[in-house]
Amino acid sequence: MRTVLGIETSCDETAAAVVVDGRSALSNIVASQMTLHQAYGGVVPEIASRQHLDAIADVVARAVEPLDDGFRGLDGIAVTYGPGLVGALLVGLSYAKALALTLGVPFVGVHHIEGHMFSTTFEYGAWDYPALALIVSGGHTDLFHIAAPFAYERIGHTRDDAAGEAYDKTARRLGLGYPGGPILDRLARAGQPDHAPLVYRPPLIPDAPYDFSFSGLKTAVLRYIREHQVAPLPEGIHPEDISAQAPDSIRNLAASFQRAVVNTLVGVLERAIDAYHPRLVVTGGGVVCNTGLRQALADLAHRKGIEIRVPHPKYTTDNAAMIAAAGYARLARGERHDWSLEPAPSLRL
Ligand code: KG4
Ligand code: ZN
Repeated sequence: MRTVLGIETSCDETAAAVVVDGRSALSNIVASQMTLHQAYGGVVPEIASRQHLDAIADVVARAVEPLDDGFRGLDGIAVTYGPGLVGALLVGLSYAKALALTLGVPFVGVHHIEGHMFSTTFEYGAWDYPALALIVSGGHTDLFHIAAPFAYERIGHTRDDAAGEAYDKTARRLGLGYPGGPILDRLARAGQPDHAPLVYRPPLIPDAPYDFSFSGLKTAVLRYIREHQVAPLPEGIHPEDISAQAPDSIRNLAASFQRAVVNTLVGVLERAIDAYHPRLVVTGGGVVCNTGLRQALADLAHRKGIEIRVPHPKYTTDNAAMIAAAGYARLARGERHDWSLEPAPSLRL
């Protein structure tokens, strides 16, 4: 088992990648549907499924291009089977099964979040244990303790919105479009957080010290918008022009919001580091692209004298290389799924 094809279609990215020995990505193809969903302010499941169907054959073909023998050079196939949108997952899973059957190679289903955990593997290699994993995306904000390979214990999760969802909702309220993370991040860098103080403190949830909550922050932002009469940007501005056209009031609010999200995430992680004494922290998920969070994680690593691995941005948002890497680890220890594997929209790790 050396060369694994990964396929990922759980949300709005059709992705395929070929990874050798679990850590060298020969290809990493991502066809994003983002612009199609932008008009609706979020991902529309029916549109996502149809787009995956349109894109999957071409995306997979491009992913195997670097192999001399093409499809025959594959030793195994790994595919996301949950969590995610059921119709979207079904496209990748059906394609993976058909391909594995045709080629006569083993296939394995991968949990999307386990994939995100493997996204640092390409630059950093295998993990030391015990480890903590912080996964922060549009659908998840989860903290795991990993005592040994594959022994995932979820010690914290969000009680309400995921961090990426908080970004997306705040951006929508300010007329900044979808997805909200990248644009708010850009505006935050040009803003003064102290000029838009929010009445907010990162929550400490009784008996759940590693859980997250972003609903209080959402309320604080709403209150600020109302009290200071921050007007959303008018509709119709091209996404590339938004950051130039946003007034200081929105930049400052973005900076203040970002500081609050980062403090919440890093505060919980620091508490868990103090309690679990991990040898390593791995991170992943779209929000880990955030420049404020990356800086805060670097500061925390320095302060605690611990290694915190942050993936390259191309492996941070949804991709299939991370699925191939996680799948390789499972295939290499003999795990297989059979043809009865079904999409699992609410799969637990
Ligand atoms: O991991 P991902 O690509 O998909 C999910 O599995 O959800 O994450 C997408 C999320 C979106 O909510 C997006 O707004 C957020 O990641 N995101 C960011 C940044 N880039 C993407 N959030 C904050 N700052 C960023 N720079
Ligand atoms: Zn994801």
